[in-house]
Amino acid sequence: MFNLNKVNKARKRLEIITGVLFKLFQINLRYKEKRNDYGIEIFEYFYLPWRSDNTFIEAYNMFSEYTLNPKSRLYTIYDFAKNYLIDDTSFVEVGSWRGGVSGLVAYTNLEKNIDYFVCDTFKGVANSSDKDSFFKNDEYSDAEISHLKEVENIAGTKFNIIEGIFPESIKNVSIKKPISFAHIDVDTYISAKESLNYIMQNTTKNALVVLDDYGGWFTDGITKLGNELKNDKKYFVAPNHLGQILIFKID
Ligand SMILES: C[S@@+](CC[C@H](N)C(=O)[O-])C[C@H]1O[C@@H](n2cnc3c(N)ncnc32)[C@H](O)[C@@H]1O
Repeated sequence: MFNLNKVNKARKRLEIITGVLFKLFQINLRYKEKRNDYGIEIFEYFYLPWRSDNTFIEAYNMFSEYTLNPKSRLYTIYDFAKNYLIDDTSFVEVGSWRGGVSGLVAYTNLEKNIDYFVCDTFKGVANSSDKDSFFKNDEYSDAEISHLKEVENIAGTKFNIIEGIFPESIKNVSIKKPISFAHIDVDTYISAKESLNYIMQNTTKNALVVLDDYGGWFTDGITKLGNELKNDKKYFVAPNHLGQILIFKID
């Protein structure tokens, strides 16, 4: 069955194909990539559980219109929520856009007693700085509170909707149950750093935060933050190479 020569030949062909694909992407986006650590790699990773998990597929179909995230990343959140979103705690999403991720988490954890804090500026990306080469503020300004109301109805769960720039936006809100699981998806360095700091000050022991955009082509501010966090002894930090980085609080 296993033949190393064939594997090596297949790897060489894949390298050529991915090189061509990345060139095509650049032509389409009219952007020439000069950084050496960016490109397309088809990882030798063939296990795609989001194709066969029927509970996930059903929930995905209910919320996919309300999220920008691809199936693989949604599966990460769904899968980790099963074990890390603890009964009688809070879930926070900063950068909810239209709320699909929070809906997916709520719907697939209905048996738990969770307080949901779903946060967005509803005016798009904020806090861009010299750490962010591409995001300049106001991107993704097409989400409205009415979208979150639709998601609440589909999920059968009430959200605490927090409008404004996080964490300033939540300063007058009391989080009664500690946060056990959170999703941060805000695209800029300062927003992600400030969101993470706030969340980690209000968690249970051993909380997990999924930080989106670590592997994004145009979200280098988040990549910088993720790489800094790898040196922070308070956390176990691991990129999953689906675009997210997982930050586990060590207590
Ligand atoms: C890429 S979108 C999020 C996508 C969303 N998680 C999904 O699954 O579709 C980024 C969102 O972050 C929001 N955002 C950026 N910085 C923020 C901040 N400091 N506080 C609250 N929302 C923020 C933007 O308004 C935008 O809706």
